[in-house]
Amino acid sequence: MLPSMFVDYRPLLKSCGEGVRINDLVKMVQPEVIEIGAGTRLCDSVFLLGGNGLKIGQKCDLQPGVVVWGGGSCEIGDRVSVGANTVILTGEYEMGTAEAPLFMVDFEEPHQATYAGVSVPPTRIDSDAYIGCNVSIRRGVHVGQGAVIGMGGVVNRDIPPWEIWVGNPARKIKDRPRIPCLCADPEHSPFGGVLPGEDTLS
Ligand SMILES: CC(C)(COP(=O)(O)OP(=O)(O)OC[C@H]1O[C@@H](n2cnc3c(N)ncnc32)[C@H](O)[C@@H]1OP(=O)(O)O)[C@@H](O)C(=O)NCCC(=O)NCCS
Repeated sequence: MLPSMFVDYRPLLKSCGEGVRINDLVKMVQPEVIEIGAGTRLCDSVFLLGGNGLKIGQKCDLQPGVVVWGGGSCEIGDRVSVGANTVILTGEYEMGTAEAPLFMVDFEEPHQATYAGVSVPPTRIDSDAYIGCNVSIRRGVHVGQGAVIGMGGVVNRDIPPWEIWVGNPARKIKDRPRIPCLCADPEHSPFGGVLPGEDTLS
């Protein structure tokens, strides 16, 4: 009998909320430092490197091919949608220094790099942000609550809350209306009891 090619990551995670959906073709490295909040969905071909810590909030949607890579730390709030093939790079080699290695991969231990010469300031995407497909987000960037990044955008600086940015490098095109509280009763709220602004990140 062939061994299963699918891994159930739930028991391997640092924490995993109720109803988390991890599709069969998701791949994780260092799941022990990855936290995933209740109701979040990871589509096929999502690739997560835990690095210095990765926290994904509640009711997020990481669409096919989303990659979190780079070895740094990353916090994603609640109700964040990340479009297909978006890359969140949490660490980068500093190419302007002599420490930048010529060969960046240790083929014996491909996921145990020492990250010498790598800059890894925390990357943060706040609740209710909407990240389009094929977006690239640089390490250390802070995307504010409710911000929208249009498809194909390259985010190399902080994005203020409730603004829409597009392009390479991303630039603001307009404000985004703030999400109203559609229901007074959180139990029946479309936000599943976690109202906009009530970020579960500490
Ligand atoms: C960013 C976005 C939300 C803006 O939509 P919108 O408010 O309808 O914007 P508009 O069509 O009015 O465009 C406004 C301007 O921004 C430009 N623009 C819009 N999206 C752009 C993008 N992704 N990249 C570059 N320019 C963009 C338009 O060309 C237009 O420029 P102009 O005024 O010079 O003609 C939308 O274009 C987008 O990228 N959505 C993401 C879709 C996605 O990837 N979803 C994930 C899978 S579901």
